Amino acid sequence: MKRSTRAFSVVAFTLAAAIAASAGYTPSAGAQGVKGNAGADDDLRAVYANAGDVVDGKRIAEGTCAGCHGVLGISKLPGVPHLAGQRPAYLYLELRAYQSGARADSAMGNTVKPLNDSALVKVAAYYASLDPPQPSAASGKQASAKPDPVQAGKTAASACAGCHGDAGISKIPGTPSLVGLDPKYLVAAMKAYKSGQRKNDTMKSMLAAVADVDLSNIALYYALQKPARAPTPAAGDQAAGKTAAAACAGCHGDKGVSTNPSIPSVAGQDAEYLASALRGYKDGSRADETMTGLAASLDESSAKNLAAFYANLPPQPTNVRKPLTTAEWAQRCDRCHGVSGNSTDPRLPTLASQRVDYLDKVLHAYRTGERKSPQMAAMSEGLTEGDVENLADYYAHQKARAVVFIPLPAK
Ligand code: HEC
Ligand code: HEC
Ligand code: HEC
Ligand code: HEC
Repeated sequence: MKRSTRAFSVVAFTLAAAIAASAGYTPSAGAQGVKGNAGADDDLRAVYANAGDVVDGKRIAEGTCAGCHGVLGISKLPGVPHLAGQRPAYLYLELRAYQSGARADSAMGNTVKPLNDSALVKVAAYYASLDPPQPSAASGKQASAKPDPVQAGKTAASACAGCHGDAGISKIPGTPSLVGLDPKYLVAAMKAYKSGQRKNDTMKSMLAAVADVDLSNIALYYALQKPARAPTPAAGDQAAGKTAAAACAGCHGDKGVSTNPSIPSVAGQDAEYLASALRGYKDGSRADETMTGLAASLDESSAKNLAAFYANLPPQPTNVRKPLTTAEWAQRCDRCHGVSGNSTDPRLPTLASQRVDYLDKVLHAYRTGERKSPQMAAMSEGLTEGDVENLADYYAHQKARAVVFIPLPAK
């Protein structure tokens, strides 16, 4: 009896907290009945469950759910979430989603199909009333934090610094600077060397052993470095180059800064490299449909003039932003899911101390659209594979706030 009195007050408290919280920030659209037709009051029924409902819920849970979700809602099975201490309205909404097929899972679909609505309310209230799991119950595979891609790129790029300069600003005539270039272009260029489509023995052997993920990391690292002009000499007539460059501006930009990720910026690039690239397009040693045609009509002195003009222009930073760290992502997640993933809205799930394998699985499901939620689709869109693993690991190891309760006088 003690337990059920407590449960009743727990849910009452959760609701109070939610109301307090929603005064402070605008809850997501998701908080307002994503699941559909029923009104918000209806969605909150599990929050208003009474002590008797919780006792009934316990009976259902022990008979039907405990085999998978564990005794007292602490799961020991991979891919099966803990339910203990989860927010009551959220549990109820998800049960309804399984029942209607809006959330697809055959095990859950078959289990909830025979249950009526009032049983769903009661079993949700029961699980919400239980003590949440400890972070040690996170279980599943323990992800070792994925390295920061920029840091990984910097490390991989240390092999390139001898020729391309410490932060991608070349000091060697004939060797290009790698700053101010979109990562998409850099990755394509590196792949072209690797495949032999772009011919250069040095670059082919330099990149032979570099994995694709490191190509991306390297490109990201250079794209985030502060660009500056290559301090190499530029023989050629800049003024003549400027006139000739009118033909190039449509693609490479007025000032040599391209806005198209597949077209390289040329501002501040080493002049000797620019001239040799044009020569390469002309003699066929570098193949590109567009540039081959354009370079065909350039003689050696026009190439040098164009090179001198572009080399003298200031390069610009790319519009690539530094990816968020796990801590920065988590701040964004916490706006809906509560501090350290402890939701104060009974309709939004707590993430703290959830199983790591389950969090990982559902985040992937949101990303692929297999599990549908407009809020989570938008939030997970920008997550990389590494972000998903790191966030799952982060939340699995947060302490689930022990549910505080105010003793209510018996009615
Ligand atoms: C045969 C095993 C099995 C049984 C029995 C079962 N579940 Fe589940 N349950 C699962 C699995 C697996 C998932 C995760 C499915 C997914 O990814 O959508 C799940 C997910 C859930 C979720 C979603 C949790 C969340 O955090 O989104 C709820 C709520 C739930 N179960 C409640 C119940 C209740 C209540 C019962 C008993 C009436 C029950 N389950 C019985 C296997 C089971
Ligand atoms: C021994 C000197 C040397 C080293 C070391 C070297 N490069 Fe290069 N790199 C060059 C030269 C020379 C070119 C110009 C080749 C050409 O004409 O196609 C070049 C071209 C490139 C380009 C094409 C740039 C553009 O604007 O199209 C990229 C990208 C590049 N290197 C990346 C790298 C990376 C990444 C590493 C380290 C893993 C590396 N390079 C190591 C000498 C070097
Ligand atoms: C229709 C669009 C277009 C026009 C116009 C154009 N370019 Fe290009 N340019 C490209 C593309 C695309 C590439 C990348 C090709 C590749 O991957 O080899 C490129 C590559 C280059 C490169 C190699 C840069 C590097 O980092 O390796 C140079 C140099 C260059 N262009 C100079 C010029 C000059 C000079 C003109 C004017 C005479 C010109 N381009 C006009 C599209 C254009
Ligand atoms: C705008 C509000 C909002 C933000 C921000 C948000 N979420 Fe969610 N999240 C939701 C909603 C609503 C649901 C329930 C959706 C459903 O029914 O599938 C949810 C569900 C989840 C679930 C499923 C939990 C379970 O028990 O099945 C996970 C995991 C999750 N979010 C992780 C995250 C992470 C990680 C971030 C940050 C990258 C994040 N969320 C940011 C609103 C949000």
